[in-house]
Amino acid sequence: MHNLLTLTTAAAGLVATASATKVPSVNVPACPRVGSISYSKSVPDLTPFPRTQVDLCYTDTSLELAFTAFDEVNYYFNASQGINDDIWEYEVMEAFLYKGTDDPKTYVELEVNPNNVTYQAFVYNPSKNRTAGAPFDHFFVSDPATDGFSATTVLNKPAKTWKSTVTVPLGIFNVDDCKAKGTQWRMNFFRTITSPETYPNQTLGAWSPPNEASFHITPYFGHVNFV
Ligand SMILES: *[C@@H]1O[C@H](CO)[C@@H](O)[C@H](O)[C@H]1NC(C)=O
Ligand SMILES: *[C@@H]1O[C@H](CO)[C@@H](O)[C@H](O)[C@H]1NC(C)=O
Ligand SMILES: *[C@@H]1O[C@H](CO)[C@@H](O)[C@H](O)[C@H]1NC(C)=O
Ligand SMILES: *[C@@H]1O[C@H](CO)[C@@H](O)[C@H](O)[C@H]1NC(C)=O
Repeated sequence: MHNLLTLTTAAAGLVATASATKVPSVNVPACPRVGSISYSKSVPDLTPFPRTQVDLCYTDTSLELAFTAFDEVNYYFNASQGINDDIWEYEVMEAFLYKGTDDPKTYVELEVNPNNVTYQAFVYNPSKNRTAGAPFDHFFVSDPATDGFSATTVLNKPAKTWKSTVTVPLGIFNVDDCKAKGTQWRMNFFRTITSPETYPNQTLGAWSPPNEASFHITPYFGHVNFV
């Protein structure tokens, strides 16, 4: 009985912690102005991580994301991987995107690598934290170019940076043309670091670092307001 009570109290504590998770927020204006976020902490240890910036703005029909990776040394990707392959096994910058204010069960996972290859899928994660045994599914965007996705990637090895500018069609989130202003979103941003020496191990960084080495914990998604 004592053990049961302790367990129940501990579980209640966990739930309370999850719903009280403190997350960052950012205001995003119409282009060409931008809202910027920057992060430099690892997941989940919060140790120093190479600085990573994302500048966001919206147009009548799209979300524009400019990812900048600073202090890059490896530029490690697999040249045989193409669109929607497992580019996240190497080095990528990522955005998890959801229109709404609650902790999502479904969201878009968007990634780009230093080879300008993109990955775009809808995720179904009904446990909101990828609990072992719970469903966890991906629905890939099969024709991203026609749908309005695009990317441009510039490597600057002397400056130790790489930058990708990515366009995401707002229609996939049911935002009609010219209706983005005033919408509210949950998002998180991530970067992976690895090298030929350390692969498949990775160092992970996030805007809103989850408490486990996983990106798929949606109570940690930050708040994003299109203004
Ligand atoms: C790159 O990807 C291909 C295809 O998935 C795989 O066969 C190969 O082993 C990978 N190369 C490296 C260096 O990881
Ligand atoms: C993960 O999600 C499940 C179901 O949504 C919940 O019961 C559990 O407490 C969560 N685990 C953590 C560590 O937050
Ligand atoms: C990157 O991919 C896009 C398509 O998403 C293409 O238009 C562009 O020319 C590619 N190259 C670079 C260097 O960004
Ligand atoms: C990856 O990490 C594990 C666990 O820390 C370690 O045992 C292993 O040697 C690492 N592999 C490489 C290639 O660094």
